Amino acid sequence: MPVPFVLDTARLHLRRITDGNLDDLVTLDSDPAVMRFISGGEPTPRHVYTDTLLERMKAYADQPYGYAAAYEAGRFVGWFHLRPSVADADVLELGYRLRQDAWGRGLATEGSRALVRYAFDDLEQTLVDACALEDNAASIAVLKKCGMRYVGRFVHPRGGMEVVRYCVGRGRGADLGAT
Ligand SMILES: CC(C)(COP(=O)(O)OP(=O)(O)OC[C@H]1O[C@@H](n2cnc3c(N)ncnc32)[C@H](O)[C@@H]1OP(=O)(O)O)[C@@H](O)C(=O)NCCC(=O)NCCS
Repeated sequence: MPVPFVLDTARLHLRRITDGNLDDLVTLDSDPAVMRFISGGEPTPRHVYTDTLLERMKAYADQPYGYAAAYEAGRFVGWFHLRPSVADADVLELGYRLRQDAWGRGLATEGSRALVRYAFDDLEQTLVDACALEDNAASIAVLKKCGMRYVGRFVHPRGGMEVVRYCVGRGRGADLGAT
C-alpha cells in the first residue's frame, strides 16, 4: 500500500505519479524547450519511460515523498519531486518540470515552496537541496524564491554534467512566503 503523498496549494494539486501518467510524461518531454537544460533539447523516447524512468519515478511509494504529478484545475501541468538527493542521500532534493504553456505564472515557485515547507514541517527535515545547470536561470530563480542559497557545484552522477547546488535550511522557512 503506497504511503500517501498529496499536497494542495492555491492552484495546484500534487499527487504521486502512477503508470497512468505515462502519456503525460512523454508529451511533457517531447517539447525541446522543456528539455533544453536537461538533455540539450532532446525528447525522452517513450521506451526510456517504460524501460526505466517511470519505475524510478514511482520508486518512493513506501515513503511520504517521491515524484508528484501536478494538476491545475484538473489538467496535468508537469511534475515535482522531493526525493533523496543525488548530492547527499540524507537530504531531500527538490526538482520540477512543467509544460511550457504553464510557465511564467509562478506555478513552479508555488509548488516548490509547498514541498519545501512540507519537508520541514511534516517530514522534519533540516535541509532541502536542489541542483540545476548554471545557465538555467528560470530554475535558479525558483530556487532562490524558495530561500535557497548557492552552496557549490558538482558533476551530476546521471548525465555527467556539472551542476550548481542550492540548499535551504529549516531555519530559513520564513523565506517560503504564501502559496
Ligand atoms: C524552471 C521552470 C520549472 C520554471 O517554471 P515557472 O512556473 O515558469 O516558474 P515561476 O513562474 O514560478 O518562476 C520563474 C521565475 O524565474 C524568472 N525567470 C524566468 N525565465 C528567466 C530567465 N531566462 N532569466 C532569469 N529569470 C527568469 C521569472 O521571472 C520568475 O521570477 P519572478 O516571479 O520573480 O518574475 C520551467 O521553466 C520548466 O519547467 N523548465 C523546463 C524544465 C526545467 O528546466 N526544470 C528544471 C531543471 S533544474
